[in-house]
Amino acid sequence: MIHNKQWSSTHQISSSYHTHSSFLSATTTSGEDAPPKWSELESTPTDSSFWSSEIKTPFFLVDLQVLDRNCRTMIQKANECGISLRPHVKTHKTLEGAKHQTIGLKDPKLVVSTLAEAEYYSAHYKDIHYAVPALTKAKMKQIESLTRRIPKFHIDVESESSLKIIEDYAKTHNIQFSVFVQVDCGQHRVGVDPSDEASLRLVQKIYESPNVKLAGIYTHAGQSYSCRGKEEIRRVVMQEAQIISDFAQKLHRMGIHPNTVAVGSTPTCAVGTREEWSNTLVNEIHPGNYVFYDYMQTRIGSCDIKDCSAFVVASVIGHRPSMNQLTIDAGALALSKDIGCSNVSCASYGYIKEDETLQITNLTQEIGIVTSEKPINFEAFRIGTKLTIIPNHSCLSAALFDKYYVINNSKEAKLIDIWSNIRGW
Ligand SMILES: Cc1ncc(COP(=O)(O)O)c(C=O)c1O
Repeated sequence: MIHNKQWSSTHQISSSYHTHSSFLSATTTSGEDAPPKWSELESTPTDSSFWSSEIKTPFFLVDLQVLDRNCRTMIQKANECGISLRPHVKTHKTLEGAKHQTIGLKDPKLVVSTLAEAEYYSAHYKDIHYAVPALTKAKMKQIESLTRRIPKFHIDVESESSLKIIEDYAKTHNIQFSVFVQVDCGQHRVGVDPSDEASLRLVQKIYESPNVKLAGIYTHAGQSYSCRGKEEIRRVVMQEAQIISDFAQKLHRMGIHPNTVAVGSTPTCAVGTREEWSNTLVNEIHPGNYVFYDYMQTRIGSCDIKDCSAFVVASVIGHRPSMNQLTIDAGALALSKDIGCSNVSCASYGYIKEDETLQITNLTQEIGIVTSEKPINFEAFRIGTKLTIIPNHSCLSAALFDKYYVINNSKEAKLIDIWSNIRGW
């Protein structure tokens, strides 16, 4: 923990920073999808000279005020909709982030994406869902140990073969596992096909098994990442809720009543409202990325630029005036190589706060190449100048760092903490 380390931030964003880069304007299709302005980025440090020369770049920066607002907004939405919130922690993988996501919640519960995360949170949370249907034999010993230690620990099943692995293990180790059945609502990545009778038979088998307890059914509309604008997202909100509710209804007719009917991705949970969920059987949502949001989410239409709470801070390390090019010390191992999804691909590997006309057009392992369609003012970006970058995909970028520097907010700009994240599998 770091306390009372005061940093000064007295600069204003110059008006030249309000110009949109050409790659942004080129892909804009409607008013709703218009790229956000930097002038809206009220709670982000406004000048790179603000950053201490003590911290080695690249580093990962979190604006706690924005993060906390994102978390409270999601909690409030779940409350207003009468739906339970089980936030996903895969984006930040920290205890502090999870506490913000569950602040004030009675019986807080989480979703995790690795067993390492499950271990990490097991000392603090009594209800944890490992929502990756990856039940290989080599994982069962650890799953058993987690099941014995965490009052409610759930795993995911999506096939007869994974059910067999856990049933065989349960029989020989005298244990009962709590399982969710993942349902594919359109992403076609994991989950049972809700229109296939075999999926209903799988749930029935689980329901009747003495070694397995049905905790609920679960879906994640990953296809929402290909949406552009709130209207498209809203359609996926309804698709996600409808498909899982129809599946739940079929189970009801078979006399099976799953306690939990869960949906959620950040786009669908950010845009979804009581209106879309009220006439469905959805009773739990599990978004994760909304804690940080990122540039891709602004392009999808899930949030505004001012909602982005996580940044990669990099230094300018080279000039190539003949090529109108800067080099920075943030490469693929800081920003990731994610350019977004089909409808929302970004022409830059991140959004540079200090000048929107700059684009990160190429990444090698440790080095980023920054170009522009306008002549770069090399005087303004001397060697050593810090750039504050909103990553395209904050989940991937955060996971490339082992700690996050946390500031209270941009106005006072005090470094108030350093968070460690849990990495590995
Ligand atoms: C199974 C599952 N559930 C929930 C989430 C959370 O979705 P998001 O990251 O869009 O908030 C994810 C994210 O990848 C996921 O894979």
